[in-house]
Amino acid sequence: MDHEEAGRFWDANADAWTRLARAGYDVYRDHLNTPAFFELLPDVAGLLGLDIGCGEGANTRLLARRGARVAAIDVSERFIQHARRAEVEEPLGIDYRVASAVDLPYSDAAFDFAAGFMSFMDVPETDRVLAEASRVLRPGGFLQFSICHPCFDTPHRRNRRDARGRTYAIEVGDYFRNLEGEVSEWTFGSAPAEARAGLANFRVPRFTRTISQWLNLLIDAGFRLERLAEPRPEDATVRSHPALQDAQVVSYFLHVLARKP
Ligand SMILES: C[S@@+](CC[C@H](N)C(=O)[O-])C[C@H]1O[C@@H](n2cnc3c(N)ncnc32)[C@H](O)[C@@H]1O
Repeated sequence: MDHEEAGRFWDANADAWTRLARAGYDVYRDHLNTPAFFELLPDVAGLLGLDIGCGEGANTRLLARRGARVAAIDVSERFIQHARRAEVEEPLGIDYRVASAVDLPYSDAAFDFAAGFMSFMDVPETDRVLAEASRVLRPGGFLQFSICHPCFDTPHRRNRRDARGRTYAIEVGDYFRNLEGEVSEWTFGSAPAEARAGLANFRVPRFTRTISQWLNLLIDAGFRLERLAEPRPEDATVRSHPALQDAQVVSYFLHVLARKP
């Protein structure tokens, strides 16, 4: 499966994803991943940035509210329509375009920084995504992206729960087998049945890479690794959002901050 075929799955997910995420049911994003991402992010005020794989634009808007001038792309036309509609309702100066991460419609060295929120692992041509991000960055510019943690989002994965239903371990396996488009079907677990009524489950093609593959591809693309983060929810967050308890057992996400020399 290539990036265009994978993109068609995302386009089909876009309406339901946007509706449920905007209703607050993407709890891992809103209460764990995004806060951690912005904690790691260098100061972007006054910088020109690109959000790669922006979806409906929630995190793009947060970048803009931090004072960055932001362009954003997504392979899905429907996601970009939703993002543009939000831009009309609350203008933040964000320039949204339909484009693929493997072929960015910008000139070399056009941006001070690039961001990818949970999108890079959705593109099969991982090397091309990183090469394109590097190409559009000016020397000294940085790339920050989040992905499903390569060590814990493996082809085989199962939550082990105790008698109270609390996850105490995550069983992982088949780590070295790169998935190349196996489709998994799911929805946001926190969304109640009435919120999901009439909405199809998401169908997401998975592309898994090992941790050394990710880091070596970054090095091959010419990046200098600056910082890594593995977000863990605080106890208080788990008390208010119990679904996040399992993310205290292993790190579900990996955040990477790298710089173009
Ligand atoms: C898990 S969603 C994350 C969306 C958004 N960044 C967020 O944080 O809410 C993954 C996104 O990557 C996008 N995507 C997948 N393949 C892509 C590609 N080749 N180029 C650009 N975006 C892509 C999908 O359309 C989807 O919007």
